[in-house]
Amino acid sequence: MSDRFEITFAPLSSDLEATTVVLAADGLELGAKAKDLDGKSAGAIGKAAAAADFKGKYKSNIEVLAPAKIAVDRLIVAGVGKTSTLTETQIIDLGGVIAGLVLARKGSSASIVVDVEATDDFSAETIAALIAQGAMLRHYSFKKYLTKKPSEEGADEKTSLKKLIIHAAHPDKAKAAFQPLKAVANGVNLARDLVNEPANILGPVELADKTKALEKLGVDVEILDVADLTKLKMGSLLCVGQGSDRPSRVAVMIWNGAKGNKKAKPVCFVGKGVVFDTGGISIKGAAGMEDMKGDMGGAAAVIGVMHALAERKANVNAVGLIGCVENMPSGNAVRPGDIVTSMSGQTIEIINTDAEGRLVLADVLWYAQEKFKPKLIIDLATLTGAIMIALGKEYAGMFVNDDKLADDLSSASKATGEKIWRMPLDKAFDKAMDSKNADMKNAGGRWAGAATAAAFLQRFVQKDVPWCHLDVAGTAMDGARSDINASWGSGWGVRLLDRFVADHHEKAEK
Ligand code: BES
Ligand code: MN
Ligand code: ZN
Repeated sequence: MSDRFEITFAPLSSDLEATTVVLAADGLELGAKAKDLDGKSAGAIGKAAAAADFKGKYKSNIEVLAPAKIAVDRLIVAGVGKTSTLTETQIIDLGGVIAGLVLARKGSSASIVVDVEATDDFSAETIAALIAQGAMLRHYSFKKYLTKKPSEEGADEKTSLKKLIIHAAHPDKAKAAFQPLKAVANGVNLARDLVNEPANILGPVELADKTKALEKLGVDVEILDVADLTKLKMGSLLCVGQGSDRPSRVAVMIWNGAKGNKKAKPVCFVGKGVVFDTGGISIKGAAGMEDMKGDMGGAAAVIGVMHALAERKANVNAVGLIGCVENMPSGNAVRPGDIVTSMSGQTIEIINTDAEGRLVLADVLWYAQEKFKPKLIIDLATLTGAIMIALGKEYAGMFVNDDKLADDLSSASKATGEKIWRMPLDKAFDKAMDSKNADMKNAGGRWAGAATAAAFLQRFVQKDVPWCHLDVAGTAMDGARSDINASWGSGWGVRLLDRFVADHHEKAEK
C-alpha cells in the first residue's frame, strides 16, 4: 500500500537526506546543485564517473559512497540522457527508475535533486513533477497481508522508504504541477489495490461499496442492489451472480465537473467487475485459477479514473458504471442451455457459463445508455483469454465503432505509453453469435474469441452511440513489470482514460 508514503518538494538550498540522487545529462552534464556538491567533495562525482565510464546515459547510474565534505552518505548519480529530446513518458519512467534505485537501498527517506534546465517541451517544474509521479507509481507495492518483515535476502526492493523529497529551483511551482499528476497516480494505485485484493475480502458488495470513498471528492455515488437490478430487468447480469452466496451490485459514479455546462452529455466508462471467475458450471481448470481474483480489473480501472478525474477536478461530465458479480457453480447457478432475457429485451442462450463478463456488460452498457444518454461509451473488461493469444500482455485490444474515438484513444495511448491495438468489428463475427433458440448465444466458436465477444457486446450498443470496448485481460494483471509498475495488479487504463479525457473532452477554458 502506498498510503504511508509521502512526496514533498523543497528548495535546492535545503539540507539533503543521507541518500541523495542527483541527475547527470549526456556528456556528464551536471546541474548547478550537483556541480556544487561535486566541487565541495573534491570532484567525487567526476572521479567516480570516470572510473565507471559513466557519461549520463538515460537510465544508467553510478553510486558514490561517503563522499568527503558533504553531508550525504550515498550519492546516486542518475543518467538523464539527452534532455532536449526527452518525452513525457521517458521523464516519468526516469522517476520510476530513480525510485527503484532508492527502494533497493536502506533508509526511510531520500532526496532527489532535480536541478535541470527547462527544455523546449517542459518547464523545470513540470520535469520535477513528472519524476515525482513516476516515483510514486514505482513505489507502490501490495504488502498489506505480510505480517513479517520481508527478509533482506532475496527481497527485490525494501519497503522502508516513507518519504521522498524533491529538491527543485521553484518547489512551490513543482508542487502545483504535481497536484494533477498525483491525482492520477492515486487513481492508478487505487485500481492496483482493488485488483490485488483477494476475493474473500473483496466480494461484489465490497467492490461496489469502494466507490463510496469517491463521495468525499465530490462524486455522486449510487449503488443498485439485487432488488433494483431485478426491477430494471437485468436478467443477463443477474444470472451470472445467481450461483454465488454473495449478491450482485451495480455501482454508478457521477462526476459533474463540466464548468458552465452541468448538463453536457457525459463521457461514460463501464467496467467488468467479476470479483472472482470460477467459470461457473463450465468450470475452469485449477491451474492459475487464483488469478481470477483480478477479473474485476476493468471495474478497478473505472473506479481509478473516476478518482483521478474528481481529485484533479476535471472540467468534464463523466459517469463510471461497474457491474459487480461473482461467478460460482452451485445448485442455483445458471446452466448451459438456459435462456435469459437482458434489460434490452434481447434473449441470450447460455452456451458457456465461463463467458460471463459479456453477460454483465450487456446490461450495464444498456443501462448506461438508457439512463445517461452518453456522448460516448468506453468499456473495459478482462473479457477473453483469446486477446492474450492475439496481443500478449503489452497491448489491450481496442474494438471501436467510431474512427474519431479510435484516433483520440490512440493519441492518449501514445502520450501515456499504455498500449492499445485496434481489432476488427465485423458482421462475420456478429453472425457467429446467432442462436437457434434465442436472439443470440453467449459464446461463439473456437476462432476469434476476442472479436466474437466484442460482436456480442455491440448488440447492446444503441444506434449512433460512439462506443469502444477495451479487452484488458492481458494488461490488467500479471503483465510485464515496468519502470513505473512493480505490482501484479497494474492499474492499467487509468492513465490512458484520464489522458483521453484531458486531451479530448475537457474544455480549453478552465
Ligand atoms: N475472465 C475470463 C477471461 C480471462 C482469462 C481474463 C484469463 C484474464 C485471464 C473470461 O470470463 C473467460 O472465461 N472467457 C472465456 C470465454 C469463452 C468461454 C468463450 C475465455 O476466454 O476462455
Ligand atoms: Mn469467465
Ligand atoms: Zn471472466
